[in-house]
Amino acid sequence: MRRTRPIIWIALLVLAVGVTTMLAGCGTSGTGTTGTATGTPAAGGLKIALLLPETKTARYETQDRPLFEAKVKELAPDAQILYSNANQDATEQQAQADAALTNGAQVLVLDPVDSASAASIVAKAKAKNVPVISYDRLILNADVDYYVSFDNEKVGTLQGQALLDKITKDGNAGKTIVMINGSPTDNNATLFKKGAHSILDGKVKIGAEYDTPDWSPDKAQTEMDQAITKLGKNGFVAVYCANDGTCGGAIAAMKGAGIDPKKRPSTGQDAELAGIQRVLLGEQFITIYKAIKAEANTAAELAVALAKGSGVPSSMTLSKVNNGKIDVPSVLLNPVVVTKETIKDTVVADGFWTAAQIMNTPELVAAGQLVGLK
Ligand code: GAL
Repeated sequence: MRRTRPIIWIALLVLAVGVTTMLAGCGTSGTGTTGTATGTPAAGGLKIALLLPETKTARYETQDRPLFEAKVKELAPDAQILYSNANQDATEQQAQADAALTNGAQVLVLDPVDSASAASIVAKAKAKNVPVISYDRLILNADVDYYVSFDNEKVGTLQGQALLDKITKDGNAGKTIVMINGSPTDNNATLFKKGAHSILDGKVKIGAEYDTPDWSPDKAQTEMDQAITKLGKNGFVAVYCANDGTCGGAIAAMKGAGIDPKKRPSTGQDAELAGIQRVLLGEQFITIYKAIKAEANTAAELAVALAKGSGVPSSMTLSKVNNGKIDVPSVLLNPVVVTKETIKDTVVADGFWTAAQIMNTPELVAAGQLVGLK
């Protein structure tokens, strides 16, 4: 369950298969955007649209956007980035995509709120000969040009296996757990859930299970309240949560009911700062680290190449993922489990968080020193 540095290179190399596709540059120019536009394109400058899904999960504004923008700026200093965040609203995202196309986006980098309904955005882009990169979440049943993400089913199997190993070690094999999955409109949530069930089914009893609309931590807290009411305070031994946001909600519910979360191992994902701190304190058992920098960099490299009309960077090799319509050329990166013992060798070693950022209270300093954080 542990990895040593450098993680980004291992992540890129693990799941690569080679296909190179030559693409004609496309897109038409226009003015104005719905979100924000960074940089003013010099004559002939590139216009790249980045459309992210939500604001309830920390990664998008704190990791994906700044990392993507920095890489585009490095590769094409005169590029303009048309940025939008849909605030968990699929209809709003449709409008944001329309505006980006109207404003001359030459490529769309789209992380869909709704993996199915985003197919109509792809159709509109295709009609304008604008390529679409499906970012992090796969757009289903559409002529997507590329897909950049992590092996999301593996995220679920890693979460499930870590939790099952812990339950067994605690002498609770076969007992009842609660499952708090992600948003039913997000194809990733479907993959996380599938992976987790492939490990847990038949090994534990699933006393209550929920799909959390919008990945909302508040809704996850309510779901956990309902599970505690249904099963009783001592009616479950562990909680599967699909990400750190929902896990934070579940832990708040447990604390509210007077249940010590340190005695009910739980899972998460994203290695958010709050998630890592809970893992360090033992309130949350694990999280999953995904090297978002590698993901954002890959998407930025592809977007700049497509906007320039040049071929896919030769350094980039792709696998194929079927989205129900086509085999999409894809880069799938490798997720990593993080326990309190491996924080140092994963997120800190990779520069995702510094030890100082994690250990920002005396309690966290004390816990950090026990696992070698300095
Ligand atoms: C998923 C993403 C996760 C996550 C979640 C909530 O699609 O892969 O990292 O946290 O959405 O936004």
